[in-house]
Amino acid sequence: MTAARGPLRPLYAQASGSPIRAMLALAGREGMVSLAGGHPDPALLPADWLRESLLEVAGQLQGRSLQYGATEGLAALREASAALLQQRGLAAQAEGLLITTGSQQAIDLLARVLVEPGEGVAVESFNYPAALQAFRFAGARLVEVPTDAQGMDVDRLEAILQAERPRMLYVVPNFANPTGAVMPVGRRLRLLDLAAQYGVTLIEDDPYGELWFDAAPPPSLAQLNQQAGSPAQVAYMTSYSKVVAPALRLGVLLAPAGIARGVVLAKQAADVHSGSLEQLTLAAMLASGRLGAHLDALRPAYAAKGRALAEALRAHCGLLEFDEPQGGMFIWAKLSSALPLLPTQAWVDFGLQHQVLVVPGAAFSISGAAQPWLRLSFANPAPEALRQGAERLGRGLRSLATAH
Ligand SMILES: Cc1ncc(COP(=O)(O)O)c(C=O)c1O
Repeated sequence: MTAARGPLRPLYAQASGSPIRAMLALAGREGMVSLAGGHPDPALLPADWLRESLLEVAGQLQGRSLQYGATEGLAALREASAALLQQRGLAAQAEGLLITTGSQQAIDLLARVLVEPGEGVAVESFNYPAALQAFRFAGARLVEVPTDAQGMDVDRLEAILQAERPRMLYVVPNFANPTGAVMPVGRRLRLLDLAAQYGVTLIEDDPYGELWFDAAPPPSLAQLNQQAGSPAQVAYMTSYSKVVAPALRLGVLLAPAGIARGVVLAKQAADVHSGSLEQLTLAAMLASGRLGAHLDALRPAYAAKGRALAEALRAHCGLLEFDEPQGGMFIWAKLSSALPLLPTQAWVDFGLQHQVLVVPGAAFSISGAAQPWLRLSFANPAPEALRQGAERLGRGLRSLATAH
């Protein structure tokens, strides 16, 4: 007799939901300041540009615009995306690109097509939680590679690759979520060498690379690999969520042909193709030539917010240590040893008590165990709310230290 189980597969029945999503449910409360979400600033989302493109698309709609489309994506959007990747230094052709439903879908599909249940996926100590979730649902064994202020610690990687033999390695080299770290070029080159040597497929996730403050990040792993004659297998993905709008749910994947073929098959099974109206709208937005000017406006706006939060944290949060953000949306702050190590729920309670939401490091760790880190996002709140949030956080942390 087989043991009784509920309707869900154990993998799903036992999974916990994202603590960040749970916090977001509290973010809308009256008077709350949320440093928790990684969502763009609504004031910086291009509603006018999108509206104009949407009207243009609506004006040209015909029956055939409403037909099923190619799984790989709308030709015009693949062309525009290839041009964008070329501007980033990548040799990309429209035919080699796949349009996905957000980069989240690319992460999910890659895990499904590359990893057998029980095979290893190497990840940093702290990661974007929905990527970890996708790897877990694919049945992967998560293999931790230590991370520091410069991203994945590649000096420790070789021994891990030898011992664990992971099938793929997931990395966010630019302004990582949650650490904000940028991997220096020397580490990128070493990572590529090791990936080629040990036959590990690299999954390079780059949603934040365009949101730099003073200087663009180094060349992508995919670009460095191409320049070296492509000795490693690198699947590069990026997203329109942070540079245009998350509502469109559109991302781009550039992967070696063999891998792309598997992802196309998996996407046929998942959703056939990404929404055509969103793809048409984004293609029209990109064809208008306004993305460059939009990015030129986004960068200083996010830089000002990142600096405003950093300055306010320095003024009010002596119990935190952090590096000045260089881009992206996050400050990764280390908690002083004068503070207790608290589980995630305690930080939710802290948020309710002090009217400031922060995400504890545990939410990004593989084990989910308490960590002496907080992720603070400066992207969403208005500048005044950022200052108020830092003040409340400082007060709350001091009261925790006193009670400790
Ligand atoms: C590192 C990272 N990858 C991927 C995503 C998913 O983005 P989307 O599916 O909106 O493209 C996010 C979203 O926050 C992220 O932080």
